[in-house]
Amino acid sequence: MTNEQYFEHKPTSPSEPVTFRVSLPDGSLQLTTDRGVFSHGALDLGTRVLLLKGPPLPPRGDLLDLGCGAGAIAITMAKRSPEATVWAVDVNARALRLCRDNARANKVTNVRTCTPEEIDQDVRFAAIWSNPPIHIGKPAMHAMLLHWLARLRADGEAVMVVQRHLGSDSLQTWLTIQGYPTERLSSAKGYRLLRSVPRLAASQSRGIDLDP
Ligand SMILES: C[S@@+](CC[C@H](N)C(=O)[O-])C[C@H]1O[C@@H](n2cnc3c(N)ncnc32)[C@H](O)[C@@H]1O
Repeated sequence: MTNEQYFEHKPTSPSEPVTFRVSLPDGSLQLTTDRGVFSHGALDLGTRVLLLKGPPLPPRGDLLDLGCGAGAIAITMAKRSPEATVWAVDVNARALRLCRDNARANKVTNVRTCTPEEIDQDVRFAAIWSNPPIHIGKPAMHAMLLHWLARLRADGEAVMVVQRHLGSDSLQTWLTIQGYPTERLSSAKGYRLLRSVPRLAASQSRGIDLDP
């Protein structure tokens, strides 16, 4: 028995693949998960909330699944926006391998898996979706979010699912203070779905309240 965290860069726990189907109103996917990767053996409830309640995605452009794990979010984004390029980013090498294999198993060809360092600096995202790694700690997660939110297009948006008892409300306030006005899109099963946009775009056209 190991205490390996799901955000290890190179998990060492023995492999124990588990494959299951995820049914969604707009289709289903087959997902293989493994030890050392987030949510081994089942779809995470927060991820399900994001997939069920996430807003329509841009039909094309560059989209990002930040912290892709085995790829449930990235593959769903890719199926919903087949003309887009979905970047599936993770620090965990086993997760990246699973995500790539899962994309292939689901006959999805527009997912590109890579580490955070491997994405071209010039890519700007029309949408970022994430079930973010809260357990890496607040300073690391805040730094990660600021890094990627700065790469949103002016008309782009980030949608994140966060458990209420893991600080979704304070994250919403913090994001707004950082220059990404953030609203709660919905709340379900103890999770909140947050939508953040760049402040300039919000003040120009979106009518989102800029006060935290
Ligand atoms: C809560 S899990 C979500 C996994 C997957 N998206 C899902 O919904 O099942 C968060 C993921 O973020 C990854 N992660 C941790 N730190 C990261 C970082 N600095 N950059 C990118 N991904 C990171 C973890 O390895 C983990 O796979």
